[in-house]
Amino acid sequence: MTENEIRKGLAGVVVDTTAVSKVNPETNSLLYRGYPVQELAATQPFEAVAHLLWSGELPSPEQLAELRRIEREHRALPDNVRAAIDLLPLEAHPMDEVRTAVSVIGASDTAGGGSVLDASGSPEENLARSIRLYAALPAIVAYGQRRRRALDPVEPRDDLDYSANFLWMTFGEEPDPVVVDAFNRSMILYAEHSFNASTFTARVVTSTLSDLYSAVVAAIGALKGPLHGGANEAVMHIFDEIGSAENVVPWLEAALAEKRKIMGFGHRVYKKGDSRVPTMKAALDTLVEHYDRPDVAALYTALEHEFVSRKGIYPNLDYPSGPAYNLIGFDTLTFTPLFIASRVTGWTAHIMEQAGSNALIRPLSAYNGPDERHVEGYVASAEER
Ligand code: SDX
Repeated sequence: MTENEIRKGLAGVVVDTTAVSKVNPETNSLLYRGYPVQELAATQPFEAVAHLLWSGELPSPEQLAELRRIEREHRALPDNVRAAIDLLPLEAHPMDEVRTAVSVIGASDTAGGGSVLDASGSPEENLARSIRLYAALPAIVAYGQRRRRALDPVEPRDDLDYSANFLWMTFGEEPDPVVVDAFNRSMILYAEHSFNASTFTARVVTSTLSDLYSAVVAAIGALKGPLHGGANEAVMHIFDEIGSAENVVPWLEAALAEKRKIMGFGHRVYKKGDSRVPTMKAALDTLVEHYDRPDVAALYTALEHEFVSRKGIYPNLDYPSGPAYNLIGFDTLTFTPLFIASRVTGWTAHIMEQAGSNALIRPLSAYNGPDERHVEGYVASAEER
């Protein structure tokens, strides 16, 4: 193995097949089980896209009704999860809160028999676990934001579908259809993106025949990083630093002089722009109009123009998502937990696909440490010689 055969970060390395989604940087396109994500975002409720990712097909009306029935059964914040979150300091990062909550749900699911030999679970058990996590995450994320604001939790409402109920539990106000539609689109756009770092993490854990919950907890840890899911939170911190469009040029010139990475721009796979950005930008535009915030649009456009013209690096999905979630009223620290609530559908689709392949993921490494040497005075025994 020579150093130049090493592909750091697995950049450009195809490690397996997947039927869940296709990311094509040449055509700047993204297909979920063959459907262009733009078409799904424009026509489907998030529940239907979850079904598509898990089963491979869009649901019939009966299948959608059944998924909605099961989702409603598992929307309420489990008492032991609330108790676990309440043990955490208010200053705990919400990503750590959600990671803890998923751990509690996993540890409480003793149906798996407890033995590591039963951990991986059957396809039916894992689909049920996937739906339960997808159903519980809105309550977990909403509770975290309300707890930090010293507000009581809001009970879910059965008369509201997934996205509207998510907003209801977070803000305790009747959700506006314009906001529900923009939020629903963001959940669809964030749901799946082939072997990104957090999804691949989930697949590595699953490849050892470990359980779905352990794989999701590991994926949450990977998603938290600002080079990955944490970027949507980081974008908002940048917007707050800049303040208004007039400050973009001096701020950017100072940031680039400090060699800072400008969060929300760039992508390991897309090099001519992220296929999801136009759809999310359109959703942001509806929110800018709905909340009458042309200042947000001006800052967004100015920073994009100045950075792209200087670096030729384009926005990724996190760039329009950050200001969109801010306009809706989510705390900046809640942004990446929203990414979890959406991506749990893609992660679990990949976990179930990996579980079916039964192939341990274990790459090689090229050693570049000290040559072999021995402990001073050590004399190997006769057996060891
Ligand atoms: C997500 O993989 C996925 O699909 C992820 C995701 C998903 O849906 O799961 O799409 C979600 O994670 C989107 C990405 C969110 N991250 C950010 O916005 C963080 C900022 N972006 C960069 O850190 C960077 O663009 C990466 C990490 C996303 C991708 O970088 P690469 O492909 O590993 O390339 P690189 O970091 O080596 O950058 C190449 C050059 C470097 O310059 P040099 O050091 O060679 O001189 O471009 C520069 C980088 O410094 N560069 C940037 C930059 N992105 C790249 N410089 C400043 N700001 C940036 N944002």
